[in-house]
Amino acid sequence: MSMNKRSFLGTTGLLGAAALAFANEERVGEGNAASLVGVGPYLQNVDDTGATVMWLTNVKCHSWVEWGETDALGKKAQMIVDGQVAANNTLNRIRLAGLRPGRRYFYRICSREITRYGPYKVEWGRLENSEIKSFETANPDSDALKCIFFNDIHDNLPLFSKLVEQVDGLDYDLSIFNGDCFNDPATEEKVLRSLATYNQGINAASTPVVYLRGNHEIRGAYSRQWPGLVDNPGGKQYFALSRGPVRFIFLDCGEDKADSHWAYSGLNDFEGFHREQAEWLEQEIVKPEFTQAKYRVLVHHIPIYGLNPDSFNPWKTLWGPILNRAGFDMSIHGHTHRAAIHPPHTAGDHNYPVIIGGGKKMGDGTVTILEVNKDGLSATILDAHGEKTEGYLVEK
Ligand SMILES: [Fe+2]
Repeated sequence: MSMNKRSFLGTTGLLGAAALAFANEERVGEGNAASLVGVGPYLQNVDDTGATVMWLTNVKCHSWVEWGETDALGKKAQMIVDGQVAANNTLNRIRLAGLRPGRRYFYRICSREITRYGPYKVEWGRLENSEIKSFETANPDSDALKCIFFNDIHDNLPLFSKLVEQVDGLDYDLSIFNGDCFNDPATEEKVLRSLATYNQGINAASTPVVYLRGNHEIRGAYSRQWPGLVDNPGGKQYFALSRGPVRFIFLDCGEDKADSHWAYSGLNDFEGFHREQAEWLEQEIVKPEFTQAKYRVLVHHIPIYGLNPDSFNPWKTLWGPILNRAGFDMSIHGHTHRAAIHPPHTAGDHNYPVIIGGGKKMGDGTVTILEVNKDGLSATILDAHGEKTEGYLVEK
């Protein structure tokens, strides 16, 4: 994957041009003020046999994906729910299935405006087709991998813009936003502005992206809708996925204070959610996908180790023993707003290195590069000026 700002600009439409980090670049395709598309295509849940294409329109539409193994496309995918083709909606989550591992696929998104939806007649408006994008399915035989991790951006889009400059041209396979990148989601408009900017920056139309919840994605009125913007394996906010030689486990810590805290108004039950994940984790770590992976990487927003000793930390008791039994090679987190690397057993009883990314200010924000090559599995934390602040290598 090579970064192409000109092409990914074409993926985003109306979401406040002035707010977009790359708004001074020339716009192409549907990316103009009259576009039907609000948030252009972003790839979710790409495995060796399938991929989900998501996007949002500014008005109600019937939407579909045209795709194929060449840029001639030739196939069409749309969402069908209980016999009805999804339509008169704005949020699209369309799965391309039956793909082959390690292959490149081409696609474009298509949306046709619905101006009136009557019981016996639908009236149509404009049809908009995006430019053709392409992506590669996961290749289980690959022995190399490059991923980039962001955390705690807190909607600081100028910081994100600087961080993404540091990985321009890196040719990464996967981007992961490890929580608190959407700050207390109050409205859809605010969330979509950040989503569009993040998608553009990491070229999510061609490179899969994972959006994990931190403790801030679950605060604010729109937090209840936020999970609808992602498509994870299994449909939950905790999940596992394989990419090349790495099996990733993603967990969702929930809030950073107890459910009984006044600020949550009695509307949280993360205690139950933590137990649910502990049970899932026990099953996940004995699966062949996990035990036979060359590397195993744990990802969750709030670190269990490296936190202030006085901090709320139910995960240490509940998840800690399972995680130490699992045989992880590395874990990656955020939340503390202070980049750090804790080798095994240096921040508590953890038998894997703990990597923590930085904060939301230009001075402490970081992007972390996770790479597998012939030397091993490495994590490198870069600041907004491209300086390496921390690094760690696991040789195997
Ligand atoms: Fe956090």
